[in-house]
Amino acid sequence: MAATQSVKQKVERLRREIREHEYRYYVLDEPTISDRQFDRLMDELKELEAKYPELVTPDSPTQRIGGETREGFQAVRHPSQMLSLDNTYSYDELKDFDRRVRERAEREKIEYVAENKFDGLSLSLIYEDGALVHGVTRGDGTTGEDVTPNVRTIRSVPLRVDPAALKNLGLPKDFEVRGEAVMTRKAFEDLNRQQDESGGKRFANPRNAAAGSVRVLDPGITASRKLDFFAYFLYTDGRVPLKTHWEVLEALHDMRFSSSIKHAARCESIDKVIEYCERWESRRDGLPYEIDGVVVKVNSITLERELGFTARAPRWAVAYKYPARQETTVVKEVIWQVGRTGTLTPVAVLAPVQVGGVTVSRSTLHNMDEIERLGLHVGDTIVVERAGEVIPHVIKVTRHGHGEKPQPPKNCPECGRPIHKSPDEVAYRCVNASCPAKFRESLLHFASRHAMDIDGLGDKLVDQLVEKKMLKDLADLYDLRLSDLESLERMGRKSAENLLEEIEKSKEASLARLIYGLGIRFVGERTGEELAEHFGSLDDLAKASADQLMEVADIGPRVAESIVEFFSEKANQELLRKLKKAGLRLEEKEKRKAPRDTRLAGKTFVFTGTLPNLTREEAGAMVTSRGGKVSSSVSKKTSYVVVGAEPGSKYDKARELGVEILDENGFRKLIGA
Ligand code: IVH
Repeated sequence: MAATQSVKQKVERLRREIREHEYRYYVLDEPTISDRQFDRLMDELKELEAKYPELVTPDSPTQRIGGETREGFQAVRHPSQMLSLDNTYSYDELKDFDRRVRERAEREKIEYVAENKFDGLSLSLIYEDGALVHGVTRGDGTTGEDVTPNVRTIRSVPLRVDPAALKNLGLPKDFEVRGEAVMTRKAFEDLNRQQDESGGKRFANPRNAAAGSVRVLDPGITASRKLDFFAYFLYTDGRVPLKTHWEVLEALHDMRFSSSIKHAARCESIDKVIEYCERWESRRDGLPYEIDGVVVKVNSITLERELGFTARAPRWAVAYKYPARQETTVVKEVIWQVGRTGTLTPVAVLAPVQVGGVTVSRSTLHNMDEIERLGLHVGDTIVVERAGEVIPHVIKVTRHGHGEKPQPPKNCPECGRPIHKSPDEVAYRCVNASCPAKFRESLLHFASRHAMDIDGLGDKLVDQLVEKKMLKDLADLYDLRLSDLESLERMGRKSAENLLEEIEKSKEASLARLIYGLGIRFVGERTGEELAEHFGSLDDLAKASADQLMEVADIGPRVAESIVEFFSEKANQELLRKLKKAGLRLEEKEKRKAPRDTRLAGKTFVFTGTLPNLTREEAGAMVTSRGGKVSSSVSKKTSYVVVGAEPGSKYDKARELGVEILDENGFRKLIGA
C-alpha cells in the first residue's frame, strides 16, 4: 500500500519531534519527556516505517545504531580553582601547620574542623534554580570534564535541592557544591568479581574504580557502579556563604547531601585534631569506604579569607596522611585454590610480613591476567598492600628473582581431573561436579552466616567430613548423627551436640537464605531474597524458565541461565528431594496463594514515602491480591512507582528511568479501588 500524504506528514512530524528530543537529551542533557514517552514515539515511527519501507531514509532517527555516543567530554572551566592540599605525614608537621596559621592570624588558638579524607575523585556540582545542571571533574584544577549525565546517576547527589531548605538556610538557588565521589569496598569487590567473570579489567583499588566509573562515556555504566558522593564545600558566587566551615557542613546536611559532617569534629586546638587523627586511624577499617587521611580546615571563614592561598594550596587547610599499609616481601610459591564454582585462583604464598599490625603470609593474585599484568615470578620481591577489610593484594613487583612464571595446573590440584578454560573467560575451572574442593567450599558457603548460619561448621570440620566421605551432598548434613560427629578429631560430646542443634535449627532458615546457600552461580543474598519473594517456593523456582526468571526485577539473562542450568542438573534435583525429605523450609512461611484476580498480572509496583490513607502493607496487599507484584527497588522493569510524602531516592530513580509515577489517588484509580 502506498503511503498517503497524511502518513508522510505524520512520519516527518515524528522524526522532527524525535530529533528535538534527542538533541535535548544527548546534547543539552535537558530531556523534556520521559524515556518511556521517547520510546513510544520511536516505536510509532518504526511501525510506520515497517509498514511503508519506501519512506525510510538514511537520516531517519531509526537508522542510527545505538544512538549517538559522546566523543570525549567537554572541557568546563571551574568558577574558582579547585586546588589540592599540602600533605603532612606526622603530628609534628601538623603542629608546624598550626604554628604557621597562628602566626599569620596573630592568634593564640585556632579552631579547626577535622574531617575524613575520602579516597575518591573530587567533583564540582553546579546547581541553578535549585537543580543540578553540571557535574564536573577536577581536571587540572582550572578546567575539568563535564560528566553531568554520569553524575546524575549517583544516588546520593540530589538532582534538586528543596527550595524551602535553601530559604531556611538563607541561601540562593544558584550554588556550587564540591565533594568526593567514592566507591565502597563492598561495591569495589563486587565490581572486580564481575569484571573477572566477564573477562573485564580489574580495578586496582576503590579510588581507581570510582574515577573510572565517573569518567566513562556511557552513563549506564556509571549507574551500575554504585557510587556515593560526600560533600565538603559550598559556594555561592565563588564565596563561602556562611560564617564557619562547620555551618557549611550542617547546611550541606540540611540540603540532603551526604556531608562529611557525619564523622567530622570541631576541634578547639591542634591537639584535639591529633586526637581525632589517632581515633580514626584505628577505626578506619570499620568504615564502608576508604579514607587515606584526615583533612584539617580552619573553622572561621573570615580567617580562611585572611589566610588565602599559596600558588598550590590553601593556607587554611592541610591533609594529614595515614601511613600506607604496604610492605615489601618475597613470593615463596604460587598455589592454586579451587573455589565453590570450580574456579582456580592463584594465591601467592609470601614470606610473612607485618602490614599495618597484621601478619600477611598470603595474597590472592586473582587470575592469570593479573599475573601477566604484574609480570610476577616465584622468588620475586613484591609490594603487598592491605586496605581495610580487603584481602591483601600484590601491588607491584620491585625486583625479579630467578623463579618460574606461575602456570595454571593441567589437572585440578584437589581431584586430579583435567582443568578447563573457556575462551571467553579469564578463569580456569575444574568442571568435575564431585570435586571435593568444590564441595568443601559449597558446604562452607551453605553454613555461612548469611546463608543457613550453622555455627560451628568451620574449615577444619568440613575438611574432615569431606575427607572421611561422611557427606556427599549438602543434604547429608541433616543425616549426621552424634556418633558420626564424636568420631571426628577435636570433637567432644558437647560440641557435637551443639553442632547437631545448629544443624537442626537451620531447617527453619528462610527460603531466601536457602536459595542463597545453594551457591548457584551469580545468585547472591539479594537475588536470593528476590527469588524467594517472587516464586514463594523452591519447587516453583526450580521449574521456572529463563523467561519467567527474567520477570524478576534485576535478573538478567546471565543469572537466569545459571539458575536454569543449576536446577537442570540431576544431582541438584536429587539434592532438592533430599532437602525436602529432611524437613527444610522450601516455601515462604506464608505462601502467597495464586491470586484469582489477575488484573495486575505482570505489573510491578514500588512504594516510596508515606501515603495519606494507606499503610505500606495495605497498599501492597491491594497490589498482590490483584495479581501484581511489589518490589523494594526501582528498575527498568518497574511498572509504577507510587509516591507519598517525603519520598526517598526511589522517586529520583523512577524519574531518571522514566517509570510512571502515581500518587495515592492515581494508584487507586489505576487498580480500581
Ligand atoms: S578539602 C583546596 N575535604 O583530597 C582543596 N578534600 O588532597 C581542599 N578530599 O582534591 C579540599 N576528602 O579530592 C577536602 N573532606 C575532604 C576531602 C578532600 C577527600 C580530596 C579532594 C582533594 C584532595 C586533596
